[in-house]
Amino acid sequence: MASTTTPLTQLNAWKSLADHFSVIQSTHLRTLFAEDAQRGKRLTAEGGDLFFDYSKNRVTDETLKLLIQLAEESQLRERIDAMFSGEKINITEDRAVLHTALRAPKDKTIIVDGENVVPAVHEVLDRMSTFSDRVRNGDWKGHSGKRIVNVVNIGIGGSDLGPVMAYEALKHFSQRDMTFRFVSNVDGTDFAEAVQDLDPAETLFIVASKTFTTLETMTNANTARDWLLAAFDGDASSVAKHFVAVSTNADKVSAFGIDTANMFGFWDWVGGRYSMDSAIGLSTMLAIGPDNFKAMLDGFHQMDEHFRTAPFEKNIPVLMALLSIWYSNFFGSESIAVLPYEQYLKRFPAYLQQLTMESNGKYITLSGNRVDYTTGTIYFGEPGTNGQHSFYQLIHQGTELIPCDFIAFGKSLNPLGRHHDMLIANVLAQSEALAFGKTEAQVKEEGTPDWLVPHRVFEGNRPSNTIFADELSPSVLGQLVALYEHCVFAQGSIWQINSFDQWGVELGKQLAQRIIPELESSETPDLQHDSSTNNLIRRYRAIKEK
Ligand code: F6P
Repeated sequence: MASTTTPLTQLNAWKSLADHFSVIQSTHLRTLFAEDAQRGKRLTAEGGDLFFDYSKNRVTDETLKLLIQLAEESQLRERIDAMFSGEKINITEDRAVLHTALRAPKDKTIIVDGENVVPAVHEVLDRMSTFSDRVRNGDWKGHSGKRIVNVVNIGIGGSDLGPVMAYEALKHFSQRDMTFRFVSNVDGTDFAEAVQDLDPAETLFIVASKTFTTLETMTNANTARDWLLAAFDGDASSVAKHFVAVSTNADKVSAFGIDTANMFGFWDWVGGRYSMDSAIGLSTMLAIGPDNFKAMLDGFHQMDEHFRTAPFEKNIPVLMALLSIWYSNFFGSESIAVLPYEQYLKRFPAYLQQLTMESNGKYITLSGNRVDYTTGTIYFGEPGTNGQHSFYQLIHQGTELIPCDFIAFGKSLNPLGRHHDMLIANVLAQSEALAFGKTEAQVKEEGTPDWLVPHRVFEGNRPSNTIFADELSPSVLGQLVALYEHCVFAQGSIWQINSFDQWGVELGKQLAQRIIPELESSETPDLQHDSSTNNLIRRYRAIKEK
């Protein structure tokens, strides 16, 4: 299994970076730019349709050299090759990690357990395409013969966040006479609000769950079935026309009552948070059509090839990962803000929360030891310019160092007067202000009274990346998602953790199963929790019984 056995902090590059940090930590971006007129052009990279400007980072050529050395000593190249070739790098679940196979061209061969998985990927894609075309053109009818015009995806985590994000991101390309809704929360309000204005006879539910056992999804799916049956006088034969499933678990799908002919499968080598381009993307395909979905897959594949083949010096996901590690492990930064200046990407930060934090929120290394360094950066964000009027104050003048990823596009999909120029002026202004700030002398020159000067100074030296593309298309969305997927993997590889399991979500799930009967029992339960949990359970039961 490819991965170095030397602990991270014992690697030569790590030690050199620690020494180098003490030299460079207070060097200002103003100085770095003043010393090199070409910096803004030089520290850039291109991959697929993405242009990556990382010049506004607190790095010199020496820093970059040492970071790349860190990637090499961490055997990142070997880890990348192991992932792409289907090695079982998810060691705690004994699974290959092959979301890249979901977007591999038909003629590619990727072997898992002695079998080429690419034909099966394309077989599912073909079935999804046929089904999507039938629903979109009205050929697939509901139980009463009405056309399906509403699609409700029921799923949670990776079975929801990717589909919602992609639907919002690609709404411009969607079939506008259809309505798409997404139900995830076990809070009944989510389901009630999603269907309150829908006609069951025109509604198709996609039950999306890798395991088909997730509490939230199965509860919502059962409620959806009751809602449908109530409209068809309990006629169970209606389920066949109004429910399809996306899962790896055929037995559970049939047990739920969905014909496996209406099931779209995927495989255990696709992690939930890496699955939006598998059959989990069925709602996306229904919205934007098979051709656009395939263009999105092609975008993913372009970034896969860039990540797999580009030298680390020009490799965007690797550079992003190394920069994040530089800030996290040497500057002590805890978070990264992702700031898309594109309204259609409004759910992109929420999507990235799961991708990044469920992947790299781990304190145990691949060899089973506790890390003695920070892992798992906190990702958050909002679309620009809304974030500017919310949390940017802290990024500009707070005591935390929060590196930012700005995402912007040359063209708007909805050109309206001067809007787009103003939007782009804002994204450029923010990264400029963060990097260069405003000195005391500049503030004084403006005639600011002395007592107010410190409040109006911007110390600057706050780093950011800018990711730029011509226009948000299905292909560019695929490239952006793959960029972050691979950045997460590169981070995890250097931190020597497994980015592909999620044991940390299990305990809460188990405890909830124990508490549910204690809340529902008609007898007074014998509570054996801590005094806080016992007290809250009693309080809840008292309110419920009022
Ligand atoms: O949150 C834990 C998790 O297992 C995620 O990794 C996954 O995306 C989500 O639950 C949903 O799981 P499933 O698709 O099996 O319902």
